[in-house]
Amino acid sequence: MSTPLVQHQTEIQRNLQAWQNKPLLRSIYSGFYRRIVALLDPSLPGRVVEIGSGVGNLKSHLPQAISTDLFLNPWLDLVCDGYELPFVSGSLSHLILFDVFHHLRAPNAFLREARRVMKPGGRLILFEPYISLFSFPIYGLLHHEPVAWRSAINFTETLPRPRDYYAAQGNATRLFFRREKPDWPAGWNVFHADAFASFSYLLSGGFSKSAWYPAGCLNWMQTLDRLWSCRPRMFGARCLVGLRPV
Ligand SMILES: C[S@@+](CC[C@H](N)C(=O)[O-])C[C@H]1O[C@@H](n2cnc3c(N)ncnc32)[C@H](O)[C@@H]1O
Repeated sequence: MSTPLVQHQTEIQRNLQAWQNKPLLRSIYSGFYRRIVALLDPSLPGRVVEIGSGVGNLKSHLPQAISTDLFLNPWLDLVCDGYELPFVSGSLSHLILFDVFHHLRAPNAFLREARRVMKPGGRLILFEPYISLFSFPIYGLLHHEPVAWRSAINFTETLPRPRDYYAAQGNATRLFFRREKPDWPAGWNVFHADAFASFSYLLSGGFSKSAWYPAGCLNWMQTLDRLWSCRPRMFGARCLVGLRPV
């Protein structure tokens, strides 16, 4: 039986509590947001839009971004579905999805819509879980979303209807790093694909578990992250991907 889409809204409310009560998480996400901001091209004209903003944290580092999500929450600028964006064709410079790509049951249906709304040379930026030997058991056993490492991915451009809750944490790793479908995504240039270690994140317990280390050790953990990022297939936990329509 499928899970209703409203599951996302339940998780948003839960995540909001963790965000407010867990300074460690905010510090870790600050580093993630800096990576995203570094991938923007400020010379591109057009609006920056975040799809699936959840609790809307990216705004702290990118106040000009329009934050959107499927569900109405007071901190958002707009309610919208990534598959059917309420923007004029060729009007956006950047689209940002933080932990949203792996919730898209039909990534090609989204990419078709993203291409429509983006200006030539615009940038689509995805921040996602990365599945490595180390992170696989953690994402697989301690997170409620499936990794779905061997499940079929839907490559049609047909919009999934009715919408239900979908999660496959492994999709970005499989598609952008393992290149399971080598000619994918057609019509897009992947100009950036970086996977890196993030023990600081994994062992922070994220939004749903308690941290396994004291907040005072964050700098030390982040030093470990930098050291082990040279072996992403072994120790990677997060990835950042940038695409441009060609
Ligand atoms: C794991 S949460 C990430 C939220 C936020 N970006 C963050 O990093 O905390 C996934 C978000 O994607 C949103 N989402 C899922 N499918 C979507 C779609 N088709 N269009 C827009 N947003 C979607 C959900 O409502 C949810 O807020």
